[in-house]
Amino acid sequence: MTIKQALSWAKQQLQDSCERPQYEAELLLAYHLQKERTYLISHDNEHIDIKEYEILVKRRQNHEPYEYIVGEASFYDIHLAVEEGVLIPRPETEILIDLVAEIIEKENIRNIAEIGVGSGAISVVLARKFPNLHSIATDICDAPLRVAGKNIASFGLERQIELRKSNILDEVSEAVGLVVSNPPYIAEDFLLASNVVDYEPKEALFGGSVGDELLKQIILDVKEKGTKYLACEMGYDQKEPLEAFVKDVGVKYIKFYQDLAGLDRGFVIEFEGQR
Ligand SMILES: C[S@@+](CC[C@H](N)C(=O)[O-])C[C@H]1O[C@@H](n2cnc3c(N)ncnc32)[C@H](O)[C@@H]1O
Repeated sequence: MTIKQALSWAKQQLQDSCERPQYEAELLLAYHLQKERTYLISHDNEHIDIKEYEILVKRRQNHEPYEYIVGEASFYDIHLAVEEGVLIPRPETEILIDLVAEIIEKENIRNIAEIGVGSGAISVVLARKFPNLHSIATDICDAPLRVAGKNIASFGLERQIELRKSNILDEVSEAVGLVVSNPPYIAEDFLLASNVVDYEPKEALFGGSVGDELLKQIILDVKEKGTKYLACEMGYDQKEPLEAFVKDVGVKYIKFYQDLAGLDRGFVIEFEGQR
């Protein structure tokens, strides 16, 4: 079969499972051939063996995320290894990183902690931005800790990021200037697309029956720890309940931020009189 015929077959197969079947057919073929996408256009009459390509296309047809198929996700200015059991980093989390970077710079913060490291997306990008920053990054699951370790090593950041298996910050006794987290915050009965709910880890998605339970516990734990700043991602409908919750907890301020679609997506808290 030629490249052109293979792409036309794959586009047909992906019609019902992908928003952009032609584009995804090309991405998967470029990955299969280990070539750039432009190669496909300039060599469209080349004959290829498509046995392995057929398997990749079938996986995508079954809604498996492209990132798990190729074992890699593009995030911020880097590519990170990902696999089933580890959340695929999302573009909205880049906004959280930029807000945290502003605080780190302004306050000259040297030590931070991250709750729920996943692939390492947040800690790796921050460590690359700030070569003097040290981060203790926790996760309760083994797969994220293993994959984050791989990503940390591939960027040579072992001296800057320390991984710990921990519930929230239970195993982090050190003082830090800021805690960042993109925790699971979806309600358990929320209907998610098949590519998310059938493939991505439940521990990374669901924050409890309401969804904001873990976020609230993180707020309490970080205040208790005596840390000055907390920056978290959250669900689009969690601003009101969290605003009410922090009134009782007592904070200097909570500022909410929106994502590129204009939806509430997270917050920064400064706690009163803390380090
Ligand atoms: C939404 S993912 C975020 C991953 C990564 N930080 C990112 O932004 O792509 C949440 C992560 O938190 C971890 N997690 C869930 N509950 C936790 C807890 N109680 N303590 C620490 N980590 C937890 C999950 O295993 C998952 O890796």
